[in-house]
Amino acid sequence: MNVMKSFREILANAKNVLILTGSGVSAESGIPTFRGAGGFWRKYQAPNLATPEAFAANPSLVWEFYEYRRTVASQVKPNKAHEAIAAFQESSLKNGKNVTIITQNIDELHQRAGAKDVIELHGSLYKTRCTVCHDVSVNKNIPICPALEGKGSPDPNIMTSDIPKEQLPRCQKENCNGLLRPHIVWFGENLDENVLQQAFNAVETCDVCLVIGTSSVVYPAAMFAPEVANRGIPVAEFNLEMTPASRHFQYHFQGPCTTTVTEALKP
Ligand SMILES: NC(=O)c1ccc[n+]([C@@H]2O[C@H](COP(=O)([O-])OP(=O)(O)OC[C@H]3O[C@@H](n4cnc5c(N)ncnc54)[C@H](O)[C@@H]3O)[C@@H](O)[C@H]2O)c1
Ligand SMILES: [Zn+2]
Repeated sequence: MNVMKSFREILANAKNVLILTGSGVSAESGIPTFRGAGGFWRKYQAPNLATPEAFAANPSLVWEFYEYRRTVASQVKPNKAHEAIAAFQESSLKNGKNVTIITQNIDELHQRAGAKDVIELHGSLYKTRCTVCHDVSVNKNIPICPALEGKGSPDPNIMTSDIPKEQLPRCQKENCNGLLRPHIVWFGENLDENVLQQAFNAVETCDVCLVIGTSSVVYPAAMFAPEVANRGIPVAEFNLEMTPASRHFQYHFQGPCTTTVTEALKP
């Protein structure tokens, strides 16, 4: 039997659908994945800047990197895969089904496509957190503060970043003025307990799971789908290539997700 047809039948009969996405779902919108060719900013590999150590050593440099990522994400649009996921969630709700979206992405493209209650495992480019009072705020301004206007160019010839700390984004809470940082889970940091609990609930209750555009090497998201598969639940992987987790899954749809996911979720 046609494999896609078989998966669509399972999907049609499911009550609780889990959709797990990684940076591959946004690649066709023009946001590079970390492991792809676009993984460099200036002379740095992106994961080396997304750490608490990098921020402590040079907050100016890390803020420039995030000013760049905020700008890129704001300029692109959700693609057909984001749209298909959001439309599927909406129509499923009308049919009494539940669709939970868990993403590792921080670009908010699922939400911009209309998806609801997205569980953001790694935070968002558009939220800040105060390093002093820990207040979390939404901030979509570009530039995020006057000193970052025109900053963040990825040009590898730019060697220094030395915006004074006082001119970097600061907390607006009364009497605080603490240094803000991106509200993002950096490499080496723990996920928020509440967010993790919501994710585990979805992992434990789903009766079908789609894993889209994730290399399945970043913990803990990497273990969610194999865990679902261990429960005997059908899991379908949508990726350009095989991944270390592919062998756990019943279905693998290879190719760009704007094609494969659209086909799987079409009405
Ligand atoms: N858009 C974003 O918000 C963004 C971008 C880069 C990195 N990150 C962060 O970096 C971490 C990296 O982990 P990850 O596993 O998400 O990304 P990854 O870079 O490790 O893997 C991306 C995966 O997507 C696949 N892929 C690429 N283009 C695709 C396409 N068009 N269709 C289908 N699959 C495609 C690749 O084969 C790869 O397996 C994440 O935790 C995330 O927080 C986020
Ligand atoms: Zn504060």
